[in-house]
Amino acid sequence: MKLSRSRLSVALVGFLSAGFLLHASAAEPAKTKSSQPSPKASDAKLPGLAAPDYIPETARTLLRKKMERHGQDARELMFGVTLLQYDIAKAAAQRIASEPRFVRPIAGGEDDLNALLPERFFVLQDESRTRAQAVATAAEKKDDKALAESYGRLVETCVACHSAYLHRQ
Ligand code: HEC
Repeated sequence: MKLSRSRLSVALVGFLSAGFLLHASAAEPAKTKSSQPSPKASDAKLPGLAAPDYIPETARTLLRKKMERHGQDARELMFGVTLLQYDIAKAAAQRIASEPRFVRPIAGGEDDLNALLPERFFVLQDESRTRAQAVATAAEKKDDKALAESYGRLVETCVACHSAYLHRQ
């Protein structure tokens, strides 16, 4: 069980890394093709999640707005960790750890966007914060083994939350 879990996170990290690398190389030719001003970084879109069927498009736009730093932070964290650039890894992990949080719906707020989200979303939100903090600590200590392991554990929560969000469970 332990083995397959860690294998899973290695596979996930590889998968994410491949996505980011793909994105980087796909963005490259667009720059050199024309003399037009190069597109803003925000125009060069990452793949993004599929649309969940239970969230109205307007609410989803709000969610995405809140989440748009994810892509940038995630890339910096991935390169910072894998290339052992401790300062970059630490800063990105701290940004992820201190992101504003969605709060659980309060009584009477059943119509709020937050009330649409599954309970696991909030659990994983807290968990990812703790795990991002562990990555920052490992980077601070320049502990490569702890850095790799804590990053793997953080990525598990990223995927778990996206899954909880998509499938509303
Ligand atoms: C608490 C739940 C949660 C956690 C934890 C979480 N995400 Fe997300 N993430 C979301 C939601 C919600 C969206 C927006 C989905 C949508 O487009 O409908 C999102 C979107 C994204 C996007 C796409 C952004 C865009 O511009 O479309 C990326 C990339 C991303 N997350 C990366 C990560 C990474 C990397 C981690 C872990 C370090 C992480 N996320 C952790 C909930 C989460």
